[in-house]
Amino acid sequence: MISYPDRNDVIERVYDYGQEHIFAFWERLPDAGRKALLDDASSIDFKLLARLYRQAGESAPPAMGFEPAPYIPVPADSGAVRRFEAAREDGSALIRRGAVAAFVVAGGQGSRLGFDGPKGLFAVGPVSGKSLFRIHAEKILKSSEKYGAPIPWLIMTSEANHADTMRYLAAHNHFGLDEKDVYIFPQSMIPSLDAGGRLILESPSAIFKNPDGHGGSLSALAGSGTLAAMRGRGIEVISYFQVDNPLVSIVDPVFIGFHAQGGADISSKGLMKAYPDEKLGVFVRFDDGTIGVVEYSDLPEDLQNMRDERGALRFCMGSIAIHLFNVGFLEKIAGGAEASLPFHVARKNIVSHTLSGPVEIEGFKFEKFVFDALPLTDKNIVLEIRREDEFAPVKNPSGVDSVESAHELMTGLYRRWIGKRGIRIPARVQKIEISPLLALEAADIPASLSIPDTESVYLE
Ligand code: UD1
Repeated sequence: MISYPDRNDVIERVYDYGQEHIFAFWERLPDAGRKALLDDASSIDFKLLARLYRQAGESAPPAMGFEPAPYIPVPADSGAVRRFEAAREDGSALIRRGAVAAFVVAGGQGSRLGFDGPKGLFAVGPVSGKSLFRIHAEKILKSSEKYGAPIPWLIMTSEANHADTMRYLAAHNHFGLDEKDVYIFPQSMIPSLDAGGRLILESPSAIFKNPDGHGGSLSALAGSGTLAAMRGRGIEVISYFQVDNPLVSIVDPVFIGFHAQGGADISSKGLMKAYPDEKLGVFVRFDDGTIGVVEYSDLPEDLQNMRDERGALRFCMGSIAIHLFNVGFLEKIAGGAEASLPFHVARKNIVSHTLSGPVEIEGFKFEKFVFDALPLTDKNIVLEIRREDEFAPVKNPSGVDSVESAHELMTGLYRRWIGKRGIRIPARVQKIEISPLLALEAADIPASLSIPDTESVYLE
């Protein structure tokens, strides 16, 4: 018999919850396998899973009525332009004070992209072939030089890609960032269940689990000690973004300025949905006055298609998963049960290891969504941005939201920047890429720059 602390308690709990099929391979397992399985089982919150399984059987429409959320539109007149300039000044001051950190969630599995490895390693530079992580790192490095203050970079990974992410960033010297400014921590995992509410074996000695969703980032931030480290460094605002968007403006002084001026707990960027069933959550104001996001899969079709008197989509403001979090707000919710955001259920195909070999089954995966923190705020601001300036998600191998569409969007943005500076682009040029180390926005491009007369241009 293997020795294992609380061995009998763990086994008893598994039996109590009717999950003893996880021991199907017990007799064939070496001691190390048995220990691994008990380790897995001992970390499981069976009560929570039983509750989530009951929830999986019920449909969960948003609990309250809602209307479209108010937002700050892109500036359309000189008054608005002045307000944006004032916001830029206030935001810049905060960045110069060293009060801003950047936070990328990179725990997802990138399975839709068909890329084997952390998504951050995926090459997206249209000319340079730079990886997503490299582009993000260089933006942070350039911002830190521009504003003369260190900007910590927080990276949330998951069990499946933590070691690879650490190795990759170390092998590239964190792309010039000081190692002390890079904080890498994994999110938690949660088991999936089969249609009968049973745990699934990934192998004879391991229970199938998935990362607990990007909503797990708030508890991972606190649990890993990173939130306390940010407080210790005098960080006030954490700028949150997804790993898959190479156009993201990571440290945006205008956004940060509006957030600070408005005294918001969380601020979010939004953009006009392109068509009714575009896969973007929408910003809403719930009947209790709180702001939130209703995920695309939860927005009933009639509301998706609803138009206002001008013929525009009524629920038009799509969430692109870019937020600013106040450190004080995160500390306030981190201690309480509130930080543990609710789980959403998704039906997914999962490979189950059975006595007769691997079988694909339909199971339930549970995930938390970070935007469920929005209704916990006292004050929240939504800022509209132009899609073509800041949003090029790389989700699919081709077509919509793919690396091809991202290349086009990146080239398009860099062309506009160069145009704004009055610099001529030779007709032969097809692809242009500007290194973040050269410019984070049009104004950073030196007016003396000349563009070489070649098909592919890389400016650094
Ligand atoms: C997400 C948003 C959607 C938004 C869209 C914009 C959700 C449920 N939906 O959709 O509202 O409009 O992005 O691109 O969020 N991640 C983790 N850990 C996890 C799961 C995800 O770190 O456990 C990270 C991924 O690495 C990625 C990001 O979260 O950076 C988004 O994940 P993804 O599954 O691609 O979200 P979408 O369904 O595309």
